[in-house]
Amino acid sequence: MSKRTPLIAGNWKMNKTATEGVELVKEIAAAVGTESSVNVLLCPPFTALSAVSAAVEGTHLGLGAQNMHDKASGAFTGEISASMLRDLYVTHVILGHSERRSLFGENDAFINRKVLAALSASLKPILCVGELLSEREANQTMEVVRRQIEQGLAGVPAAKAESLVIAYEPVWAIGTGKTATPAMAQEVHAFIRKLLAQQFGAESASRILILYGGSMKPDNADALLAEQDIDGGLIGGASLEAKSFVDLVQIAAKSLRD
Ligand code: 13P
Repeated sequence: MSKRTPLIAGNWKMNKTATEGVELVKEIAAAVGTESSVNVLLCPPFTALSAVSAAVEGTHLGLGAQNMHDKASGAFTGEISASMLRDLYVTHVILGHSERRSLFGENDAFINRKVLAALSASLKPILCVGELLSEREANQTMEVVRRQIEQGLAGVPAAKAESLVIAYEPVWAIGTGKTATPAMAQEVHAFIRKLLAQQFGAESASRILILYGGSMKPDNADALLAEQDIDGGLIGGASLEAKSFVDLVQIAAKSLRD
């Protein structure tokens, strides 16, 4: 674990009603709601944001969204703007998740517009990048990640670089139970930090959080978080139950002490 304050973020995806979400938050808050050595973020579906926003008030738990549109307002049926998220005290927004890329056709140019719109609205983008299994097998991992980082972050002003969070999520590890080994993940994280240094300078790059995502669970988190450039996790399945998510937060807190 690095000197950066770790972030454990739960991406609930299309799970939990508002009522179920509040129940989950209450359990998480009771266990780690005052934990301050680790930043904890919950990213519920849009319909639960308002209720979860109220439920995290007065705790150290933060609130993120799973997506947004790049335009400020207008005729975009079904979409949500940055200011709508800000109004609910959302601080972070996941952008370019592989499910958005593969199931909803989002490309790097669109994701880039969202990143810029989020930063303009003082939301912190969590930009997701990662290769498909076929790309890894064809030795294209670095090339794919480079394209996603360079195009996703095009035009980001250096002054805003430290508001960025990057999540490396190898697509073949998402929801499959297969995790990148700590060494495999570290290799890509170090490469991402090098790309960030090229764009924003080494000083800023050293402060940007790079999360790992893809079947991260209490039994593999320790080894992943021990790597120098892995600054936390973007957690899918294991964020849907209080016990596993709380365990992950506690493992991240412990990794700081080790
Ligand atoms: P899983 O933890 O379920 O593999 O999901 C990871 C993910 O996609 C988080 O954004």
